[in-house]
Amino acid sequence: MPTTYEQIFEKNKKWVAEMTSRDADFFENLAKDQTPDYLYIGCSDSRVPANEIMGLEPGDVFVHRNIANLVNNTDLNVLSVINFAVKHLNVKHIIVCGHYNCGGVKAAMMPKDMGILNPWLRNIRDVYRTHAKELDAISGEDQRYNRLVELNVIEQATNVIKTASVQKSYQNKGFPIVHGWVFDLHSGILIDLNINFKAILESIQKIYNLTGVASEYNEDGE
Ligand code: CO
Repeated sequence: MPTTYEQIFEKNKKWVAEMTSRDADFFENLAKDQTPDYLYIGCSDSRVPANEIMGLEPGDVFVHRNIANLVNNTDLNVLSVINFAVKHLNVKHIIVCGHYNCGGVKAAMMPKDMGILNPWLRNIRDVYRTHAKELDAISGEDQRYNRLVELNVIEQATNVIKTASVQKSYQNKGFPIVHGWVFDLHSGILIDLNINFKAILESIQKIYNLTGVASEYNEDGE
């Protein structure tokens, strides 16, 4: 049964009662500050709720979600989230989490005009183009989409690593580490793609190294 609009407020009251019965000061403590160790960048898909799939409580994870978990280098939203999470929250880990059966990834590969979604989804077509040889060699359509989901996660995680805030923080403090995950809707299992953060960082720094100090520019760029 879907939840009606009115029921949401009833559910909220029940949740408040449950949390305070476990810990009377829960919300008082929650209101003080946030010190999450994790930044999660995932898909907006309603079936992939960040906190639930990781078993994390309020305060544990800083979250950014958009269609197909993209980290686009002209998207001020995601870049601001990364910048704030790294520089001010000092997160230790950044996770890009995709999921199989991603409608965004599927839509991106449809041979049709998707209107305003075209430029957004083009990022996924770019991932396909970059890895066309590998993807074209996969005969099963489902397997090819699954692999595109994984490759998209790896590309977006790489985009996170390209940012100045991540490169500088890692150089100065040894964190954050960037991870790529896929959530399997059929089983509920989170799969760590075990991307090699250090190897990716080293390889992208040949071209994308932003760790030097450019005194003529504001330090806050990405
Ligand atoms: Co999705």
